[in-house]
Amino acid sequence: ANGWPGLIEAYRAYLPVSDQTPVVTLHEGNTPLISVPAIASEIGKNVKVFVKYDGLNPTGSFKDRGMTMAISKAKEAGSAAVICASTGNTSAAAAAYAQRGGLKPVVLIPDGYVAMGKLAQALLYGAKVVAIQGNFDQALEIVRAMSETYPITLVNSLNPYRLEGQKTAAFEVVDVLGDAPDWLCIPVGNAGNITAYWRGFKAYFQENRASHLPKMMGFQAAGAAPLVLGTRVYEPETLATAIRIGNPANEALALQVREESQGEFNAVTDAEILAAYRMLAAQEGIFCEPASAASVAGLLKVKDRVPANATVVCVLTGNGLKDPGTAMEQDGQSFHQGVPAQMDAIAEIIGIGS
Ligand code: F0G
Repeated sequence: ANGWPGLIEAYRAYLPVSDQTPVVTLHEGNTPLISVPAIASEIGKNVKVFVKYDGLNPTGSFKDRGMTMAISKAKEAGSAAVICASTGNTSAAAAAYAQRGGLKPVVLIPDGYVAMGKLAQALLYGAKVVAIQGNFDQALEIVRAMSETYPITLVNSLNPYRLEGQKTAAFEVVDVLGDAPDWLCIPVGNAGNITAYWRGFKAYFQENRASHLPKMMGFQAAGAAPLVLGTRVYEPETLATAIRIGNPANEALALQVREESQGEFNAVTDAEILAAYRMLAAQEGIFCEPASAASVAGLLKVKDRVPANATVVCVLTGNGLKDPGTAMEQDGQSFHQGVPAQMDAIAEIIGIGS
């Protein structure tokens, strides 16, 4: 067939795969880089802002990039089952790719803190879903131990193939812009994705496909900001449940990214996240999930420090449809219910023709 083959075929030379690797793909990757002029105009200074809309991947998040690699390699190694802890998106991706590859997926999630769309996906794809009375950090500790005790492959970002797949998002950004951006703004939870992007930018820089490296700007939710605070958060809280994480597994790598890129970690409040979430939808036509909007909220928070004429990319990690509940709770909507099925009544409501 023609068309985009999925990221393993597209970037095979950069990935640890061989002719022996059975590629499990849903044709993930190749997501759009979209200009967001309303956000750019908040900053001014002739700054260009784009979003990398990774919510358009097959299961609706960037996790598909890592999962096509992790599942293909697990299958190559003869593994029969995979396990992960998840705030929702990893579980959806693991379930989809494992089932497609003929492996059995098991997912541990924090009971009551996973957005409905993500849970619906994992269930329908057919994963064994275990909701624990604990948070993501506790779930991750358990699945790490289980993968060391039982014959089941861990597909959290501690699995080295996950970040290899995810680094392709940086390749796509550079391929479209023709160079690296000056800043890369990204939400940070377990700190895998920021590490993966940095790897991708460095690989392209080393091959002279980019003239420079971006400053990596990681944003955490204020109630779940261990990398900003410099200490573990035992009871992380944020409405951006995707990044409700207090003990990031990739902390050491993320600190290295900050240092090497002369980047920063900053916190954004839930109110700032929601403001960016609504702005993306209502002014740019882009529906992302709350955690994803942390990248834009963060950019707006530190806008005074963006250099003039800079090119900035904000990563939108997940699709807004993942979390319809949060969308429905926002005010400022114009929803008229129980209206008579008559033209006059409708014309009056929309204020037309009178
Ligand atoms: N944005 C979304 C929508 C996510 O689902 C996640 C992580 C992140 C950002 C943060 O990425 O962990 O690489 O720093 N979600 C994981 C999950 C934890 O289980 O789906 P990170």
